[in-house]
Amino acid sequence: MRVLVTGGAGFIGSNLVHALLSGGHEVTVIDDFSGGSMANIHPAAGLRRIDITAPELAAAVLAVRPEVVIHLAAQVSVAVSIEDPEFDRRVNVGGTRAVAKAAVDAGARRVLFASSAAVYGEPHELPLTEGSPASPAVPYGCSKLAAEGELAELLRPAGVDFACLRFANVYGPRQKAEGEGGVVAQFASRMALGTAPVIYGTGSQTRDFIFVADVVGACIRAAEFEGTLALPGENGPAYNISTGRETTVSMLAEGLRVAMRYAGEIEHVDPRPGDVEASLLSPEKAASVFGWRAAVELQTGLQGTAAWFLSQR
Ligand SMILES: NC(=O)c1ccc[n+]([C@@H]2O[C@H](COP(=O)([O-])OP(=O)(O)OC[C@H]3O[C@@H](n4cnc5c(N)ncnc54)[C@H](O)[C@@H]3O)[C@@H](O)[C@H]2O)c1
Repeated sequence: MRVLVTGGAGFIGSNLVHALLSGGHEVTVIDDFSGGSMANIHPAAGLRRIDITAPELAAAVLAVRPEVVIHLAAQVSVAVSIEDPEFDRRVNVGGTRAVAKAAVDAGARRVLFASSAAVYGEPHELPLTEGSPASPAVPYGCSKLAAEGELAELLRPAGVDFACLRFANVYGPRQKAEGEGGVVAQFASRMALGTAPVIYGTGSQTRDFIFVADVVGACIRAAEFEGTLALPGENGPAYNISTGRETTVSMLAEGLRVAMRYAGEIEHVDPRPGDVEASLLSPEKAASVFGWRAAVELQTGLQGTAAWFLSQR
């Protein structure tokens, strides 16, 4: 399969590109390196250094003629989305629209979009299903939800299949700890240096943590699926990509402590305003429609993550 991966120099994208190449697929990456790194680029992948909001995007996608576009490039920081919602919209909504248009013009048969659990906002019921109300609490969640709408508007009439993969909290090798890297990356990088990781609040808040290899597996399974992913109806193309297991931040820190062989303290500070108290996403729809389920146990994923962070010291 000829696959175009936007954001392929980033955390999830680079893990995906490596797996696609190992599976014998032909891969081209589009990335502007605003968050990704050249060290993440596999030498066998084609590379175009382009901003997805720039006019040259359309010609670049046309030249690749991808069968499947996996669109991961995004403004990924919740804090930036609050400080500069216009920039967030330009990249996440405008950029997604441009990628979708380019995919149609290049004759792609499917677009997979990296959406987020942030589209749900503060949950009123757990586990969240794709039919749960989408009521994002931050501009980042709003832009991801709006991008889902752009895809439906552009791709349905063009007959291009698509899916909005709503990732839960992804962790694993190559995740950046700086800025707003996930909590696992932040804990792991501190433990690797012998510095106490910091938990906001009691640590009883829960998340659905999913190992990056499972997310990569979901993307590849969805790309290769022979049926239709964009089912009719409002929530038809949305799929939670999650484990369906709830873990407290304290349990996570303890698991990582074992994996990192960290003997120091774990620090607690005041809770952060606006943080969701509990999150859990049902993965049943992805399992029943395209036969994907997360397979990596939390401790196994933490072990793999720890090995990578320790190797980076
Ligand atoms: N990491 C998570 O827990 C998580 C959860 C839910 C959704 N997501 C989504 O998954 C996708 C990948 O996230 P990640 O964690 O790998 O982040 P990342 O920052 O590591 O990767 C994003 C990549 O996109 C590139 N990029 C950003 N703006 C661009 C632009 N205008 N043009 C071209 N390239 C651009 C960056 O350089 C980077 O390589 C994002 O869409 C993110 O919103 C991630």
